[in-house]
Amino acid sequence: MQSARLTVDPAFRIGTVDPRLYGSFVEHLGRCVYTGLYEPGHPSADADGFRQDTADLVRELGVPIVRYPGGNFVSGYRWEDGIGPVGERPRRLDLAWRSIETNRVGVDEFQKWAATVGTETMMAVNLGTRGIDAARSLVEYCNVPGGTYWSDLRRAHGAADPYRIKVWCLGNEMDGPWQIGHKTAHEYGRLAHETAKAMRQVDPTLELVACGSSSLDMPTFGSWESTVLAETYDVVDHVSMHGYYQQHGDDRGSFLAAAAGMDRFIDAVVATADHVRATGRHKKRLGISFDEWNVWYQSRFAGETNLEIAETPRLIEDVYSVTDAVVVGNLLISLLRHADRVRIGCLAQLVNVIAPIMTEPGGASWRQATFHPFALTSRFGRGTVLRVEPQVAVYDTAEQGEVPLVDAVAVWDEDTGGVVLFAVNRHLTEPIALDVDLRAWTTLTSAEHTCIADDDPDAINDMAHPDRVVPRRLDDPKLDGGRLQAALPPLSWSMIRLS
Ligand code: AHR
Repeated sequence: MQSARLTVDPAFRIGTVDPRLYGSFVEHLGRCVYTGLYEPGHPSADADGFRQDTADLVRELGVPIVRYPGGNFVSGYRWEDGIGPVGERPRRLDLAWRSIETNRVGVDEFQKWAATVGTETMMAVNLGTRGIDAARSLVEYCNVPGGTYWSDLRRAHGAADPYRIKVWCLGNEMDGPWQIGHKTAHEYGRLAHETAKAMRQVDPTLELVACGSSSLDMPTFGSWESTVLAETYDVVDHVSMHGYYQQHGDDRGSFLAAAAGMDRFIDAVVATADHVRATGRHKKRLGISFDEWNVWYQSRFAGETNLEIAETPRLIEDVYSVTDAVVVGNLLISLLRHADRVRIGCLAQLVNVIAPIMTEPGGASWRQATFHPFALTSRFGRGTVLRVEPQVAVYDTAEQGEVPLVDAVAVWDEDTGGVVLFAVNRHLTEPIALDVDLRAWTTLTSAEHTCIADDDPDAINDMAHPDRVVPRRLDDPKLDGGRLQAALPPLSWSMIRLS
């Protein structure tokens, strides 16, 4: 059997996990909002029309922040359409997804939903078709206690207290030619700067995110970030990143190495942000908001321009396998490994659309395979992230070059003294023996190994078989005198909890 050796030591500290690393994303797209979160008439719906079966799963998933309302959708959105008496709200043509937007859910409804599931909103403003005025009015509507036109309107709509939304995205993917109101880096940088200034004049406590590139593959990647950040560095706190990953053809080896691509992408954006910091003689360091990431089989999506206009269409409802779950678990390892700079992460999206949670109109809801590594990492991956650097054989991939067979990271909860190791075995067919030197933790006496692996790496959950793929408890690892030994099954994601 191949083996992997690694050391967990409190001195190898990367940074503290910002809980917002475990965020998610709700867009007015397909069935994410309508029949996903919101379905009046569903047997589980509350008085406001929100499905409580979905809400329970969202709580279990553990998402402390949710980005809203887009995505591409936000670049054509008039937020004022979604406030006031529901019966008087307009039905609009959404050009991003060629859908009819009924506006039955708007800012006020979303805030109610966010409060019931116990999450914070990360609000995006429209810098495609709109700009400074709409953005500052939305901040006033949400965050000013009262005594002004927009804040009094919110109060008239039933929300006496301000929402105090802290994190705001200055537009979405403004580098993408598909975006309504697409801009050059210079055009966007100037608009983002002036919008940020006005928003901060309404509420100086905001935390603002400038749009980075839509992906590492954009032709303007790198120069987009440096131009935009040169214009906005002083007025923003984070730069955004978006990354979607999929298996191409039968090349599972490359797909399993997707986290190496995410590592490279983050390192490149950090380097670019720090270059702007140096040349601009800025003191503060920018954070990264990786506010869209997931496995997405984009090659199976015909593209939004080919869609028939419809209300609540089934769009991009990818079904995830064990292999996808292992990759999602590994992408979380990559985000944790960059906890010193990545402050916010948003699994895109939350319900039905490339999502960990699926729902049927009038019917059931269930957890996709990818739900499990996310929920476990969000629950147990809190504290101080420790670099572990596995010593293990490498393999060659077409997309990511040479990558190690095992990828891992550890998180130390200084309050409880517990340590959690997250590890992925990328070998398609063979287990790997894990040998961990625990050095400072000779006092740890118990270890629990939870794993996602299956004889069929294409196994999925669906409505008929919602628990076909679940995490399983393996035999407890051997723990003796500060040394831990466990076996990582082939093509697997593991969580080993030490206490
Ligand atoms: O998450 C789906 C879409 O992917 C979002 O609307 C857009 O921002 C990205 O391209």
